[in-house]
Amino acid sequence: MPDGGKLTLELSNATLDDEYVSSVHDVAAGQYVMLGVTDTGTGMSQEVMARAFDPFFSTKPEGRGTGLGLSMVYGFVKQSGGHIRLYSEIGEGTTVRIYLPRSTDAAVETRAATPGSLKHGNETILVVKDDLRVQSTVVELLSGLGYAVLKANDAEQALAVVASGVHIDLLFTDVVMPGLLRSPEMARRAVQMLPGLKVLFTSGYTQYAIVHGGRLDPGVELLSKRYSRQQFADKVRQVLGGASDVEASEAGAAGTRARAGRGSP
Ligand SMILES: Nc1ncnc2c1ncn2[C@@H]1O[C@H](COP(=O)(O)OP(=O)(O)OP(=O)(O)O)[C@@H](O)[C@H]1O
Ligand SMILES: [Mg+2]
Repeated sequence: MPDGGKLTLELSNATLDDEYVSSVHDVAAGQYVMLGVTDTGTGMSQEVMARAFDPFFSTKPEGRGTGLGLSMVYGFVKQSGGHIRLYSEIGEGTTVRIYLPRSTDAAVETRAATPGSLKHGNETILVVKDDLRVQSTVVELLSGLGYAVLKANDAEQALAVVASGVHIDLLFTDVVMPGLLRSPEMARRAVQMLPGLKVLFTSGYTQYAIVHGGRLDPGVELLSKRYSRQQFADKVRQVLGGASDVEASEAGAAGTRARAGRGSP
């Protein structure tokens, strides 16, 4: 709609019957939810409509459109077992209808995250990060959640802390750090020295890439780098185990465990 106009969104349950699916071939008959988007824009010719889902096909001037908008929508819909349909008339506008398979399972209740309800604990965590700015943010967050925090700037320092005999429950470390000793190797040696030690890696790579690159042992936990405070607190709690699985609103109880072995962060 280069000159403005009206955009209408529709959401409903829909049935695709045998007759309809026999004319489109790429979808099974059944129950779907339909999301419709209608504009009062320029509309499309039959030729443009026939190519609209092609990656990089665009009628927009150089530098204005990637031609990926509709092809990405198409990819998402097909991956979801759905169906997409365009209706358009030059000078009138366009309707895009997306059909996604309808689930009849009971809705999953998601509990809204309330501020201040971050999971906390009182275990000891060794934070290994070469980026000191990130390190201090993580240390601050973990201390604020009640954990005793130790820190190291690289894999060698981390092993020295582990070898000192101090009690550590969780090793939280970057997968990739400068230095000769690689982080996964450091973690393996740390677990040899402290058999009960839990390990949580963080990485800018996706979990998939790391696991399939063979760089993490099976069963090792990984937090991908763009995490929220909530995700971080949840993940740390999950890796440590459910024992102190309480909300920060009961934080008064968190300081009761003896802090023997706590190092200054
Ligand atoms: N709502 C619409 N109204 C009119 N034409 C459309 C509409 N949506 C897509 N088209 C036509 O299909 C082409 C491809 O659309 P697509 O969304 O894939 O890429 P684009 O819109 O050109 O680029 P981008 O999405 O990156 O802005 C468009 O260039 C345009 O010609
Ligand atoms: Mg587009």
